[in-house]
Amino acid sequence: MNHKESNPISFHVPGHKNGNVFLNSAKSLFKDLLALDVTELNGLDDLHDPEEVIKEAQNLLASYYNAKKSYFLVNGTTVGNIAMLFATINTGELVLVQRNCHKSIINALTLIGATPIFITPQVDINTMTPTGLQHDDVIEALNTYSEAKALILTNPSYYGFAQDLTKIVESAHASQVPVLVDEAHGAHFGLGKPFPKSALQCNADIVVQSAHKTLPAMTMGSYLHINEKSLVDVEKVEYYLKIFQSSSPSYPIMASLDLARNYLQSLNENRINTIISSHSSFINKLKSLNKLKVISDCQESNYILDPLKVIIQASNKATGISLQKQLEKEGIFTELADSKNVLLILPLAEIKNQQEVISKISDALKGVKVPNREVRLNENFVFSRNRRVSKLAFSYKEMEKRKVVTMELAQSSGKIAAEVIIPYPPGIPVLMPGEVITSEKLTEIKNWKDSGVRIQGKSEFNNIKVFDD
Ligand SMILES: Cc1ncc(COP(=O)(O)O)c(C=O)c1O
Repeated sequence: MNHKESNPISFHVPGHKNGNVFLNSAKSLFKDLLALDVTELNGLDDLHDPEEVIKEAQNLLASYYNAKKSYFLVNGTTVGNIAMLFATINTGELVLVQRNCHKSIINALTLIGATPIFITPQVDINTMTPTGLQHDDVIEALNTYSEAKALILTNPSYYGFAQDLTKIVESAHASQVPVLVDEAHGAHFGLGKPFPKSALQCNADIVVQSAHKTLPAMTMGSYLHINEKSLVDVEKVEYYLKIFQSSSPSYPIMASLDLARNYLQSLNENRINTIISSHSSFINKLKSLNKLKVISDCQESNYILDPLKVIIQASNKATGISLQKQLEKEGIFTELADSKNVLLILPLAEIKNQQEVISKISDALKGVKVPNREVRLNENFVFSRNRRVSKLAFSYKEMEKRKVVTMELAQSSGKIAAEVIIPYPPGIPVLMPGEVITSEKLTEIKNWKDSGVRIQGKSEFNNIKVFDD
């Protein structure tokens, strides 16, 4: 702000010169933001070697979250996940991974050439979505694979199911295994009750959060925190962040990360209560709509549903996708939809104009028809939990050398997948390279396809790449 107010003359990057050189028709739209979009000028510090304002802002962040060190990320949780994995795991090393992880975790494991051991998550019956790991399964994996170099968790799930990780972290630490947590959807968990416990409060070693998902921060803005007693080398994390993040980090994103931290800090108990009671009144209004099933808590005692997440389902058994389409016709845009659910992310603030929003939702519901070929996740959706702890058929290095052939998806049962199949959203792979294609997996893929969810990179999806026998 100080720099902007000094009326600076720019002979440096970026080329828009504080917003003065810009397509005229868009100038007014971008003007205020471009004035903040500067670069590593004297006095504006450097994300890759912070000594001034960025250092101060990151210190404030660490102190708010009680972390040993905290970092601004300008390439999302994606880059944080990749950096924390590179800092912890070497090629060929074994690592325990919660199976419903984001693709950035799988991408990092592939690039490292690590050997993942997947632990199958539990499933929430109401939404039929994967949640978190059962403590016993983690213990079994730790005992079977005592050479594991890390445990990688995702908490909360995309749909907002969160568990207290304290016991899981304790068990991993007892085996000297560091715990790395993708907390992309939980940047607000540090607020305390009624929000779930943050992985940092459960002693996880590294925690990455997408500030842009639930806090008022700009898209791509995330935080990475290192815990006070972390088993992971701080210098290694910094080394990889320098490699993977842009050498021209966005100042508007960094500033918004600082402001989001400030916003969180400004939320006292009173304000949080006001927000929660505004949410409750909105949820009650939603519940009064008779064509809607509203899920705002969790049946399983181990989990809480993040108060910022509400899942709705059409009670006439229409798919979540068709419900979402009707809502969009009324100008209401939601986070994601699948065969069964539509996920709403509530603001970390009071919900304004509730009656108007509810009447739009009510209008949308009038248009929700049951299609002829309806696929309902609750009727025939399968999450295979037969093998709770499983290994890939080949190492990533071996996969690179193997011959790949394309075959009909319907005929592929028993083969080893050579490509990743990701329904988006939620961006969690149904099938990963190296996994056995079981008949249950084929049913799962069919359900996603039939429900209209986009399978990334596959508009027509009748064939699949598999490793040649
Ligand atoms: C669980 C999870 N982890 C990581 C990511 C990636 O986060 P970002 O968009 O901040 O890179 C996402 C994005 O949807 C996610 O859902």
